[in-house]
Amino acid sequence: MGEFQGKTLVLSGGTRGIGNAIVSKLAKEGCNVAFTYNSSEEEAKNIARNLEKEHGIKARCYQLDILKPETYKTVFEQIDDDFKEINFFVSNAIISGRSVVGGFAPFMRLKPKGLNNIYAATVLAFVVGAQEAAKRMEKSGGGSIVAISSTGNLVHTENYAGHASSKAALEIVVKYAAFELADKNIRVNVASGGPIDTDAFKKFPNYEALKAATIARTPLGRMGQPSDMAGVVLFLCSKDSYWINGQTVIADGGSSFT
Ligand SMILES: NC(=O)c1ccc[n+]([C@@H]2O[C@H](COP(=O)([O-])OP(=O)(O)OC[C@H]3O[C@@H](n4cnc5c(N)ncnc54)[C@H](OP(=O)(O)O)[C@@H]3O)[C@@H](O)[C@H]2O)c1
Repeated sequence: MGEFQGKTLVLSGGTRGIGNAIVSKLAKEGCNVAFTYNSSEEEAKNIARNLEKEHGIKARCYQLDILKPETYKTVFEQIDDDFKEINFFVSNAIISGRSVVGGFAPFMRLKPKGLNNIYAATVLAFVVGAQEAAKRMEKSGGGSIVAISSTGNLVHTENYAGHASSKAALEIVVKYAAFELADKNIRVNVASGGPIDTDAFKKFPNYEALKAATIARTPLGRMGQPSDMAGVVLFLCSKDSYWINGQTVIADGGSSFT
């Protein structure tokens, strides 16, 4: 029996892109999955049904708006009714559309409201979600927490100051969490990606040009795919990564060095 068999993952934003690849990857390893959606309720229910059918695991979905981080507490209470313990937590969901107006913009057009929204969705949601997960992991002898970040805090990316600065803050909060939760056998790390071809990336106004430029500056010669991130998260949840704690693991095909 594999190490993920019968364990439970909680993940925010499992309906699309990277989050969806992560829940699929862990479910394939026999891990139960509790994931959140924001607006895609039908899609989320279909994903859960298909994962159960395909992998013989338990999968459930829950509504969450990361712009209201405190509501994570209610979501975890709902998860308590469905799963007996939590072993892994991945903070993945990201906002887009109207809520990032004034946050996803060139520096001179940044506005406090948009920036606050991105900070709430990225940093505050991680803090509340990871606190709730850690309380439960402590009871089951430990666990692994992973925050999803982006190399936009290492490489200049158009309109990305709001997201990049929030991801930079997230990576520091992760270090503090890792330090303070280690005595509970809970590890906390970051999986950071270069540009990945998801709905979020496709929303960049100059998507085609950005995609071509990304491929051109990526030594491995292609765009990142959601599965590239899922592999890193699986590793960070596994016993093979036990000695990695408070770190950022980058998966970018080498693009942040060019
Ligand atoms: N794409 C990239 O280039 C890239 C690169 C590196 C890191 N990342 C990071 O990877 C993570 C996932 O990004 P992605 O590209 O996979 O995004 P995506 O395809 O746009 O998926 C976003 C997910 O977040 C959920 N979501 C949206 N608004 C929400 C809200 N207000 N409250 C709660 N959940 C909400 C969506 O649920 P619904 O379907 O219900 O709306 C969906 O499941 C993010 O942290 C992002 O910063 C992305």
